[in-house]
Amino acid sequence: PAPGWTVAADVIVVGSGIAGLTAALRLRQRVDRVLLVTKTVLSAGSTLWAQGGIAAALAPEDTPEEHLQDTLVAGVGICDVDAVTALVNEGPRRVRELVGLGAEFDLDAEGALKLTREGGHGRDRIAHAGGDATGREISRALIAALEAVREDPGIEVIEHALVVDLLQDADQRVCGVTLHVIGEGQIDGVGAAHARAVVLATGGLGQVYSSTTNPSVATGDGMAAALRAGALMADLEFVQFHPTVLWLGEGSTGQQPLISEAVRGEGAFLVDRDGVRFMEGRHPMADLAPRDVVARAIVDRMRDTGEDHVYLDARHLGREFLEQRFPSIVARCRELGFDPATDLLPVAPAQHYASGGVRTDLDGRASLPGLYACGEVACSGVHGANRLASNSLLEGLVFANRIADDITARLASGELPQTTPVEPSGPAALLDPSQRVAVQHAMTVGAGAVRSAASLASTARRLAELALSTTATVPGPGAWETTNLLHVGQLLTLTAALREETRGGHVRSDFPERDGEHWRGHSCAERRPDGS
Ligand code: SIN
Repeated sequence: PAPGWTVAADVIVVGSGIAGLTAALRLRQRVDRVLLVTKTVLSAGSTLWAQGGIAAALAPEDTPEEHLQDTLVAGVGICDVDAVTALVNEGPRRVRELVGLGAEFDLDAEGALKLTREGGHGRDRIAHAGGDATGREISRALIAALEAVREDPGIEVIEHALVVDLLQDADQRVCGVTLHVIGEGQIDGVGAAHARAVVLATGGLGQVYSSTTNPSVATGDGMAAALRAGALMADLEFVQFHPTVLWLGEGSTGQQPLISEAVRGEGAFLVDRDGVRFMEGRHPMADLAPRDVVARAIVDRMRDTGEDHVYLDARHLGREFLEQRFPSIVARCRELGFDPATDLLPVAPAQHYASGGVRTDLDGRASLPGLYACGEVACSGVHGANRLASNSLLEGLVFANRIADDITARLASGELPQTTPVEPSGPAALLDPSQRVAVQHAMTVGAGAVRSAASLASTARRLAELALSTTATVPGPGAWETTNLLHVGQLLTLTAALREETRGGHVRSDFPERDGEHWRGHSCAERRPDGS
């Protein structure tokens, strides 16, 4: 699309979850002009929905080293140790800064942070807020900090702005974005924003599947834009399925209600229809084994019993405790006809988190000059094949600070020059928004929780058919989002077919074992200028 207007900044931050807001706030203190763009409103996005909390070695008896070891074990051999080391060492300080900024975490009687446990953690190290509304509180605090500086000419916010593609100069340096702004009294239509660096903090790709815990905005926009621009992508096949998502019946699609792992952290446990606690004996940590282990055990038990769900039993925790500790979850369950204090909760795994994404280094730099990525859109190497619970908010926080520091230093040293973009081409052909369901169905059936060469080939064929049937007559956010889902879905399917083993979030029925000899590394892919 031909941009109808242009704005300029030193740095563009795309996305307003914990990663984008943190990066924008820190950059604003140091560079002249920061532009923050977000697809709908500032608070929409996955951060808002984070329940369990944020993990960091905050307890006196805990250490970053133990957090590191738990993260590496959960990541099943392919975490980048340097990235995890940065995460766990810098994490406690960054969480304390968040508290200093005004985020109100739950405290004990002595005023210390209350810490809980989730799957894969050997200690209580998850700080939480509002019981089970941690993301909501973090989002509130960061947005309040942003609102406090909204009049500052050094920071501009554009809401309702979908970034369509990255702008690049003749040397592939990223120097801006094209974006579609949808009314709301702001500049309208397709425009361009030019900058010396672009930070993608656009979140994940959950909507590529029919059923996910992710909100409807999680359509892989940043990943797709980076992929089309030629950025190196990594580990897309590692998709985390959360074990305990409230099961609302066959055919329930879109965002599904999460039952936080913290409920198991407080003592709830899984049972099958006969009341058998099937996690016992399956793993030394039983119901608090790493997430991929629990999800796989549930899938196995569903297959063995012929049922499409298992149950979470939290009844023994008592009404008073449940209402006080998990107010949002209890309220949502009741709205849907379940009372956790008296009912077994039907649960099944659903898509939850993309462990892969735009490949970044320790400073959040992507492979294209001028491009950074942070949070779920990125593959910083901290998650490996399976993210440890509650490490995602921490990753956004730690790496957003690293990115802001790196950009500040490089702007000062002249390493990020202003350059002129070549004419943007935009996505060549767009899917019609009505094809979103077809993409989701193909991905769910063939590239979901359990895959095989045959199922992945069939998904790849179906996606190729859809790609050929590009029919959107009116380019617009719905068409761009659907096309983004197609593009990330195609790459995910390709890398899942290449990895002939089962590891973490990548489960192959035809290669059920881990293959440490051939598959210890990352899968990396980039689109060449000829489109291949
Ligand atoms: C949960 O609360 O179970 C989700 C936490 C996470 O995904 O890290």
